[in-house]
Parts: sequence; C-alpha cells; structure tokens
Amino acid sequence: MASLSSFVTLVILIVGGIFVDGIEAIPRSFFVFGDSLVDNGNNNYLATTARADAPPYGIDYAPTHRPTGRFSNGYNIPDLISQRLGAEPTLPYLSPELTGQKLLVGANFASAGIGILNDTGIQFVNIIRMYRQYEYFQEYQNRLRALIGASQAKARVNQALVLITVGGNDFVNNYYLVPYSARSRQYPLPEYVKFLISEYQKLLQKLYDLGARRVLVTGTGPMGCVPSEIAQRGVNGQCSTEIQRAASLFNPQLETMLQSLNRKLGRDVFIAANTGKTHLNFIKNPGQYGNFSIRLLEGFKTSTVACCGQGPNNGLGLCTPLSNLCSNRDLYAFWDAFHPSEKANKLIVNDIWSGTKAYMNPMNLSTILALDATT
Ligand SMILES: *[C@@H]1O[C@H](CO)[C@@H](O)[C@H](O)[C@H]1NC(C)=O
Ligand SMILES: *[C@@H]1O[C@H](CO)[C@@H](O)[C@H](O)[C@H]1NC(C)=O
Ligand SMILES: *[C@@H]1O[C@H](CO)[C@@H](O)[C@H](O)[C@H]1NC(C)=O
Repeated sequence: MASLSSFVTLVILIVGGIFVDGIEAIPRSFFVFGDSLVDNGNNNYLATTARADAPPYGIDYAPTHRPTGRFSNGYNIPDLISQRLGAEPTLPYLSPELTGQKLLVGANFASAGIGILNDTGIQFVNIIRMYRQYEYFQEYQNRLRALIGASQAKARVNQALVLITVGGNDFVNNYYLVPYSARSRQYPLPEYVKFLISEYQKLLQKLYDLGARRVLVTGTGPMGCVPSEIAQRGVNGQCSTEIQRAASLFNPQLETMLQSLNRKLGRDVFIAANTGKTHLNFIKNPGQYGNFSIRLLEGFKTSTVACCGQGPNNGLGLCTPLSNLCSNRDLYAFWDAFHPSEKANKLIVNDIWSGTKAYMNPMNLSTILALDATT
C-alpha cells in the first residue's frame, strides 16, 4: 500500500513536472480586447453586420488566403504581436477550437463595432461590448483554472501580455454617426472626450482587477484621415478637420490618464502605444487640425485611397466581393475604408516593438519582454 501510494506520488510528480515544464516552455499568454482593429473573428459567430468573413478579406492571409473575420487583407496587429512573442495567433474566444492546451496561448475577446460606451455601435446590434468581453475573460480564467490549477492560472494571467484597442468607434459610430446624435447633443466635443477618458479609466482599472499586469493601450490613430472620413467629410480630399480634432483631444488625455493610473498602482502596468504620434507617421501642419499629410514611407503609393471599396477614395460602403480591389496591397496604407493593410500593420507593430518614447510610453515591447524575463 505504501509503495503503491509512493508510486502514485512519483507518477504525479513526473507528470506534474513535465506539465509545468511544458507551460514554462511556451510563450507568455496574450489577451486581446477591443474593436475591429484587433478582432480575430469573434463576430463570425454573431448575428451582426460588422463582419469580415467574405472575400476579399484575407486575400493575403498567409496560412489560408481566405477570410477569417480579421479586418485586414492579411495579418492584423495582434497576429504580428503574437509572432513577436513567438506564439501562435490568439483564437477568437467564441471559436470552438479554443479548448485544452490552446487556452495557454491566450484568447482574443475583441469584437468589431464596439466602443468604450455601451451605446456605441448599437446599429451592429449583436456585438460583444466591453463589459461582456470582461465577463468572457472571467469565464476564460475559470476554464484555465480547471486546466492547470488556480495558482498556475493566476500566474499565467499576471504574466500575460494584454492589448486593448478601443475608442475610435465612440466617435465614428456614435458621436459623429449621424448629425445631432444623442451624444453630440449631450456633450460638446471636449466634454465628450473627458467623459470617454473617465469611462475608459474605469475599464482599465477593471482589467487590472481581473489580473492584467502588462497592458498595451493604443491611441485612436488618425481617425479623420481614414478613407471613409475623407470620402464623407473631407473637403477637397483632405482629412476631416473635426474628426482629427477629436483624435488630437483624445490621444494626449489618454496618455495622461495612463500615467496617472500607473502612478496610483505604483508600477508600469499600462503602456501607451502610438498615442503621442498617430500611426503611419503623420506630419502635422502646425495650427491646422485638418491638414495632415502622411509621409509616403516604406513605398506606399497612397495613404488616402482604400485598396478595397467604392466611391471617392474607395471610402464609401463596405469591402465586398463586388468592390474595386487593388492588385498590390502593399502599396496601400489602408486595406478598406477604416482598417490598415497588413503592410501598414507591420509598420505599426515595428513601432510597438522598438519605437522610441514618442511612440511607446514608458517603453516599447522589446524592452518589456527583456525586463519581464529578468524579474
Ligand atoms: C454597460 O452595460 C452593462 C450591462 O448592462 C453595465 O453593467 C455597465 O455598467 C454598462 N457600462 C456603462 C459604461 O454604462
Ligand atoms: C495643407 O498644407 C499644404 C502644405 O503646407 C498647403 O500647401 C495646403 O494649402 C494646405 N491645405 C489646406 C486645405 O489648408
Ligand atoms: C526601445 O525603447 C528603448 C527605451 O526607450 C530604446 O532605448 C530602444 O532603442 C528601443 N528599441 C529597442 C529595439 O529596444
């Protein structure tokens, strides 16, 4: 009896040891929250019009060249971050494949169309709003605990990298969605931005309470300069002055809010990504919100015309099988009317990886990984 129980103990130790080694050998987990810029396909499982599951989406997606639900011709920002971590891409939380050992990779909770506020994207009806993404994160953690035990699960969540990208839709799919929207009648723009920042702060505090300790928080990017806004609101093909004004109010206040949260928490939990400078290297004409021009860097032919779409700048309506489609996606900064091309995503993630403090405050991802490896 004694020998049997020590045999059992030995087996448990060996199996446990191998299991723990296996966990240590795989990269840290990666969790993704937010909107279409980072959705890996959750909306495929929902009854909503905010989806990217038909061609030509995915036309350059290396593994399959088929649509996946990513709002890109190929990889999106989370995919490229996963590659930097040496990890597989995160599966959408709603994917039936997200079971067993796959849970250790992490999960993607993002859902196209959502915003900081619950009333953002109401026209998309059935999407996963932020509070619901967090409920799923708690559910995920229950499943992880069942797989590897409570203390290992907590450690993996604490050691994970987290990405959150949200806020753009609170402008384009809420405040500016229709003239005299409810929110624009409620708040002048500067007050609305303050309100968004205070609601966002609550969301980030909650993410910390749920165990996140390294969180990349992206700014809104050049919302007024996406082909959709140029087509709808830009005068003579210029960026939308009003929407660029929103971005120029939101991003600096976001960065300040992250700094104050970090001070309160006593550690660098939240990393501002591309909030100081908008992605794609804008050159701002001093004193003129509307006059941004994108440096045609890295061989882009255009940063104002979408590759896939129709109407002025290919910026109206959705990207569908019937849309105009450019032949060389690498020459376009924008894939569709709102979302960067894979090539632009690569440039954004290069900045996230190795950018200076103007892009990544207080530090870039390569520094984070080096720092966390030694502590
Ligand atoms: C959003 O809705 C959920 C569920 O009704 C609620 O718990 C949460 O407080 C709401 N968030 C905001 C910012 O109103
Ligand atoms: C934008 O800036 C360029 C270069 O400074 C200038 O030539 C152009 O007139 C400006 N456009 C508008 C609409 O202000
Ligand atoms: C990352 O950030 C650090 C600190 O700002 C900087 O010194 C370094 O050059 C950046 N790039 C890389 C690849 O570490």
